[in-house]
Amino acid sequence: MKTIGSFSEYQETYQRSIEDPEAFWNEIAEDFLWKKKWDSVLEYDWSVPETKWFSGGMLNITENCIDRHLETKADQPAIIWEPNDPSASAISMTYQELHDSVCQFANVLKKNGIKKGDRVCIYMPMVVELTVAVLACARIGAVHSVVFAGFSSTALAARINDASCKMLITSDGSYRGSKTIPLKDISDKALKECESVEHVIVLKNTEQDIQWYPGRDLWWHLEMRDASAVCEPTPMQAEDPLFILYTSGSTGKPKGMVHSCAGYMVYTAYTFKNVFQYEDGDIFWCTADIGWITGHSYIIYGPLANGATTVMFEGIPSYPNYDRFWKICDKHKVTHFYTAPTAIRTLEKHPTSLIEPYDLSNLKVLGSVGEPINAEAWHWYDTHIGKQQCPIVDTWWQTETGGIMISSLAGVTPQKPTYATLPLPGIQPIILDAEGHELSANEAEGILAIKYPWPSMARTIYGDHERYKQVYFSAFEGCYFPGDGVSRDAHGNYRITGRIDDVVIVSGHNLGTAPIEDAINEHPEVIESALVGYPHDIKGNALYAFVTSFNTEVDEARLYKEICDQVAKSVGPIAKPDRIQFVTGLPKTRSGKIMRRILRKIATNDLERIGDTSTLLNPDVVEDIIAGNEEMLTSS
Ligand code: WTA
Repeated sequence: MKTIGSFSEYQETYQRSIEDPEAFWNEIAEDFLWKKKWDSVLEYDWSVPETKWFSGGMLNITENCIDRHLETKADQPAIIWEPNDPSASAISMTYQELHDSVCQFANVLKKNGIKKGDRVCIYMPMVVELTVAVLACARIGAVHSVVFAGFSSTALAARINDASCKMLITSDGSYRGSKTIPLKDISDKALKECESVEHVIVLKNTEQDIQWYPGRDLWWHLEMRDASAVCEPTPMQAEDPLFILYTSGSTGKPKGMVHSCAGYMVYTAYTFKNVFQYEDGDIFWCTADIGWITGHSYIIYGPLANGATTVMFEGIPSYPNYDRFWKICDKHKVTHFYTAPTAIRTLEKHPTSLIEPYDLSNLKVLGSVGEPINAEAWHWYDTHIGKQQCPIVDTWWQTETGGIMISSLAGVTPQKPTYATLPLPGIQPIILDAEGHELSANEAEGILAIKYPWPSMARTIYGDHERYKQVYFSAFEGCYFPGDGVSRDAHGNYRITGRIDDVVIVSGHNLGTAPIEDAINEHPEVIESALVGYPHDIKGNALYAFVTSFNTEVDEARLYKEICDQVAKSVGPIAKPDRIQFVTGLPKTRSGKIMRRILRKIATNDLERIGDTSTLLNPDVVEDIIAGNEEMLTSS
């Protein structure tokens, strides 16, 4: 894989990549193993919208992530797995072992009726078998849909049904710090609502008691016992779907982003190598969960496509103590550490004496992803973890973009705290004003858009191409619209300023406001609600709910608790509002739309910028809400 080694080389490469994108990506794609070469590099028409990369080409991503490394790296660890319980043994799985397990499990899938194109839902803890299950699907062309194992049964059922998954892979339970989570029970509950699932494969993990449904349920270890470790990779068309991954939208239903085989592989591999400047022998640790895109692209596919050693951690940063991350870096001699600002902000609140006992001298590169990293967190990370010796890559991207879009290249291009900095080769960002005019001056602030295709962009929303068009391609003609605000400095460095739609990022989790409001509204005493984000020291953003109730004499403490329970049940505990203000009415437009913009200003105490409220249906309500907000904050 080509690696950019200097700033001037970056500039030259970037220039080439936008002057002749097809020649640029053609050359990079040649580094991979193809069953059949592509006929054309790129065909696209964003008025449809349709984008095809490497059309006519055939390949299997697992052959690129595993088989082709066997000649030289069969005994090198592909995955180092660190358990939740620090006294349990870590696992090192070599490329040969990974190959054998993936082939075995691919044969298990086949034996149980899974064929190319079938959707398989994976709801598992962060154990090695999760990666094996993902790759086994890819091996036979089944489309994996990983659902984060912190989601509730309702959220799981919605995702299984949306893609009509034929199989669910789960475990009896999962460990998360000192807790165990009954994944099989949650799955059983979800499956009461799902007709498409024929089999459930259950990994024995926590050994807790579970219900068993004979005929439907199968034990992972029993199925694997006699499975052969030979399974030829199924040749896939470049544009065949590789996986579906759900992300929150601004309307209720989550969006099943569909990624395709070839473009995703080429782009995640290229960006992994270049952004992180990974070299053979390095140990790469991304702390994300595989339930999110960061885990897909930079725990599994990007690293493995490069023959890297990737670390998977089952637990959480606070267990058994807030030194756990540093302990793991020391123990496994981690060279690359990639985490989220919310984790940094949490760890920063603890004394540095928790870091000092550990040897972090192997660290070469630090990374940040998922939300804007504030200056304080950036400097703490740089000083206390990187010891001012490690470049920090602040990587901006999305579930929809598949791979990193804007970031410095570690130690190669300049970094600037709180800036994602420059676009990667092949990426053409622009800044628009609210009317969609491009702001051409270097220094500018506005709405981020991307004006040219890149290989790993999501191709559609599963089952709803119209929504894909509406959400990403209709705001501004001819551009992909990520939904983020942005500013740019005189040197062309980009700084992401946050979401401009109704998605709030809480502790690195993208939460759509709509499903949470739906959950709140389900409470029998609630009329309606509006949810907005407000800045929070540790979580980045916290959730503020404005709620109207039928009951004029509400017992606020009781209702607060009941609403939180309802949200935890329908969406997950992460989505519980931090503040709930009971109000007499919500500000609405004349067409009946709740004006969240005004509520956001109240929640963030930005009262001067509330703007004109005279066009509202009910302008009086705004004063009442402001008064109630002051009362609530002074009494809490
Ligand atoms: C935000 C995560 C600022 C952004 C890979 C984006 C960021 C959303 C950064 C996507 C960053 C991600 N700086 N903001 N470095 N990285 N974001 O789909 O708002 O979970 O649109 O993908 O996170 O979140 P998602």
